[in-house]
This record gives sequence, C-alpha cells and structure tokens, in this order.
Amino acid sequence: MDSGPETRPDTRPEPDVVRLGLAGVGRIGALHARNLAALGPGDGNLPPVQLVIADAAAERAHTVAHRVGAASVPSVEALLDEGIDGLVIAAGTPSHPDLVRMGVDAEVAVFCEKPLAGDTAASLPVLEYVNARGGVVQMGHQRRFDAGYLAAKRLLQAGGLGWVHSFRAVTADMEPPPVGFLASSGGLFRDCSVHDFDILRWLTGREIVQVYAVGSNKGDPEIGRVGDIDTGLAVVTLDDGTVGTVSAARYNGSGHDVRLEIAGSRSTLLVGLDDTMAVRSAEPGVDFPSGRPPQSFADRFEAAYRAEMAAFVELILGRRDNPCTPADSVAASRVADAAQESLLTGLPVKLG
Ligand SMILES: NC(=O)c1ccc[n+]([C@@H]2O[C@H](COP(=O)([O-])OP(=O)(O)OC[C@H]3O[C@@H](n4cnc5c(N)ncnc54)[C@H](O)[C@@H]3O)[C@@H](O)[C@H]2O)c1
Repeated sequence: MDSGPETRPDTRPEPDVVRLGLAGVGRIGALHARNLAALGPGDGNLPPVQLVIADAAAERAHTVAHRVGAASVPSVEALLDEGIDGLVIAAGTPSHPDLVRMGVDAEVAVFCEKPLAGDTAASLPVLEYVNARGGVVQMGHQRRFDAGYLAAKRLLQAGGLGWVHSFRAVTADMEPPPVGFLASSGGLFRDCSVHDFDILRWLTGREIVQVYAVGSNKGDPEIGRVGDIDTGLAVVTLDDGTVGTVSAARYNGSGHDVRLEIAGSRSTLLVGLDDTMAVRSAEPGVDFPSGRPPQSFADRFEAAYRAEMAAFVELILGRRDNPCTPADSVAASRVADAAQESLLTGLPVKLG
C-alpha cells in the first residue's frame, strides 16, 4: 500500500554524478555502502554515485569508506556540509528521528532504514515534521524490491489466486544479532515481523485490524534479560477477513528463512520456494531443496537491497514515485507495536 508524497517535482537536468551521504556503517550500512558505491549505468542507466560516509565510530566509517572507494567525514553534520543530493540513514534506530530531521532541514532527499523511530508514538512527530516541510523520505523495506514478492503482487492483482483466505509468513535468522543491537531494536516483532506486516499491506492493499501474539525464549538468556524474545508468532486478521500467521525466530540452523504462503480459492503461492529455501524435507527420497541457503538477510535480499538503493537514486533524479513512504512504515510499525502489546498483555489487540 503506498501513500503520502509521490514523485519529487524536479525539472532540472540530471547531474553527471549523484552525491550521497551515508550515516551509519554497521551491519546494514556497510552493505548499503557497497551497493551505493557500485551503482552506475548498469542499474537503469544511473549516473555514478559519489559516496561520503560518517559513523559515530569514526574508525568504522574510515574502514568501510576505504573498502568501497568512498570518502569519510567525522560527523553527519560534516556529511551535510559536503553538498550532497541525498542522505542514507543506516545508523541505529534511536538516531533515526534526529537524522531524518537533519536531512529534511538540509532539503536533501532522505533514505531511512526502517523504522522511522523506536515505536509509533515516537514516529508520529517525525512523520508530521517530514510532511509539514514537504520532505522526501524513502523508508527501508527492501522486500518491496524482491523478485518473488513483486511476482506475487502481480499475480494477486491479476486475480490469479482467486479470493485470498489465509497466509503464513515466516522470518527466521540463522543466529541472533548481537545482544547490544537487540537491546535497542524494539523487540522481535518491531525488528523482524515489521517487514512481514509491511509486505502484507503492500501485497494485499488491505489493513491489518487485529493481532494476537505469543512468544518465548529458549536460546541465549541474555536476549530475555534485555526484554526481548527469540521466537514469536502473531495471529493476524486483515480488514477483509483474511487471516494468517506471522512468525519470527532468531535461531534457524538451516539458514536465513524468509517465506510467505498465500492461499486463495484458485491456487496457493509460496514466495521464497526455491532450491535455496532454508528448510529440509521430511519426505524419504526427496532432496529438494538442495542448494546453499542464504546465511543472513544480506544474502537473502542481496538483489533487493541493490534495487532499493537504485530506486532511491531514481527518486532523487525525479524518475520515479516514492516506493515506501514514512506513512507506510509507520503503518507497519503500528502493527508491530500492537503485536508487542499483545505479547505483554496476553490479549488480542484491535487496530483502528
Ligand atoms: N531493512 C533491513 O533488512 C534491515 C536489516 C538490518 C538492520 N536494519 C535497520 O538498520 C539500522 C541499523 O541496523 P544495524 O544492524 O546495521 O545496526 P548496527 O548496530 O550494526 O550499526 C549501526 C551503526 O550506526 C552507527 N551510529 C549510531 N548512531 C549514529 C549516529 N547518530 N550517527 C552516525 N552513526 C551512528 C553505529 O556506530 C554503528 O556503526 C536499524 O535501524 C535497523 O532496524 C534494517
């Protein structure tokens, strides 16, 4: 579901080079750095990107910049002084509100990794700030660029599944991220399942109206000590009566497992069903899937992350609409908040 500001009105001729600042080069930022530095004519005839990097850990900015052939500066303020066309925010979640405001104040296009802020209450003032100033902010929900989800959307829109009655969404890491990251991630539903909530809204064009969530901790006790769970499941109802489950886990020894099964009156479709799917068959004599499963989100969505960065450059150039607005991201975060509330209260939560 897309909403909010659309095409960036821009009638200027396209520049020979797009200058981008990247704030934060941890797990995802280092990946974006590699993808951004490699963008060019091979990606829909884009101009090359000139990249400048900042990180609160200056040495990390320097190392990643050196690796991808970019420059580094000591702070995000210094990034904005470089005369950039766009700011990519891949710093930790607590920094997102301030960095988004800084980008909007500097009147540059902003790409912000999900989420806009730690929870919906903290996101709403940022959303208002962006909208009041006409800011251009693309949010990081990369599944919208994944070939499987895109094909599913086309099939759904063409009515290929008949009427849809249910779905099962799965997101499982091979192993948990560092506990330090989890402590500020907002919890499993906000960190992982938020991608499933976003893609369900985007694919179906429907709103999620109720969530009932459960969860547990059977792995590293430190995850429980920072207030998170390592396994969770949300039972979800859409506004047209479609029902489904959204499950997430931090331990899947088979690999990084992201799937979505959508069941309709005419057919059932599975996004993520290929030879690299991170599961094993119990059936005797069946060796499918036999490929090497993705080991991390970076492997699973390698092409999608690259396409997402290309889309941000296209947005800056005024070639396309915003593929994921802050309002979209806040809508998914709202569902994640409801799942977290349901987990804590043990009760279903209705969304307005
Ligand atoms: N879309 C996805 O698939 C996806 C995947 C992973 C993470 N994320 C999101 O990306 C963000 C970063 O996650 P991560 O796993 O890379 O975290 P990380 O902890 O590995 O890295 C965060 C980096 O940001 C830096 N940083 C923190 N505050 C900063 C500031 N004010 N200015 C500059 N740098 C700052 C830190 O020093 C660190 O290098 C999170 O918001 C997370 O939700 C999205």
